[in-house]
Amino acid sequence: MAAQIIDGKAVAAEVRKQVAEDVKAIVASHGSAPGLAVVLVGEDPASKVYVKNKAAQTVEVGMQSFEYKLPAETSEHEILTLVQRLNANPNVNGILVQLPLPKHVNAEKILNTIDPDKDVDGFHPTNVGRLWIGERTLVPCTPTGSAILAKKAVPSLQGLNAVVIGRSNIVGKPMAALLLRESCTVTVAHSKTKDLPGVCRTADLLVAAVGIPELVKKDWIKPGAIVIDVGINRVPGENGKTKLVGDVAYDECAEVAGAITPVPGGVGPMTIACLLQNTVTAFKIQKGIKD
Ligand code: GUN
Repeated sequence: MAAQIIDGKAVAAEVRKQVAEDVKAIVASHGSAPGLAVVLVGEDPASKVYVKNKAAQTVEVGMQSFEYKLPAETSEHEILTLVQRLNANPNVNGILVQLPLPKHVNAEKILNTIDPDKDVDGFHPTNVGRLWIGERTLVPCTPTGSAILAKKAVPSLQGLNAVVIGRSNIVGKPMAALLLRESCTVTVAHSKTKDLPGVCRTADLLVAAVGIPELVKKDWIKPGAIVIDVGINRVPGENGKTKLVGDVAYDECAEVAGAITPVPGGVGPMTIACLLQNTVTAFKIQKGIKD
């Protein structure tokens, strides 16, 4: 049987609709909308597109958008000063510093300066700790979006054998923490894993986040498994053009999987939607509003 295709674009629209309703309720009760500040340093073309999309969607759901576009040669000290100003600004509820930062800037130092309660990326060590011990926190956007998509295939993830390929701080590790919180039995696989295909074949839920184009093959997939593809890889296509592919060989894996996310149109659109959701959560945390 052909796999259910999980439509990330449609699910992201649902998330944004819910965020827009939450924002309306906040405006009604508090008199002003949550604000999201995005800091872009330099001219990285992909980052510029991301930031433009973030700002447009922030306004679309009724939130305040603050954009800071700084030249590539901005000093670390200037960026730190801006982050500290944003930390102190009561109209700013979420702060995102777009990565990658220029090489002369210590990204870790910048990210660790963001107030944890405004850290809508969920990258601050305080939020990493809160996630692992199960406290209310801001969870990184891509894992959050991936978990929402997985739940479109099954009502509960409880008890599933989940395999995450990739151990990055941005996706693999928080994904593992989130799936553990959902009561999955979690395995984190990576480049040094012995018999990676065999490990993947144990997965009821497979999350691929390694950044290797079409690494995951049909015979790695347990029949009926849920496959979430976090990879976004640009590879040579036809007629000298390039195309986007995931970390999963989509066509062949869709023949075996129970449900699968496409690339593009799967996890990608969920990331900004979850960022907006995190900005609402950040507002609520700052105001002491319960979920
Ligand atoms: N650059 C690419 N993706 C992201 C993200 O999720 N957060 C930040 N801060 N930068 C990114």
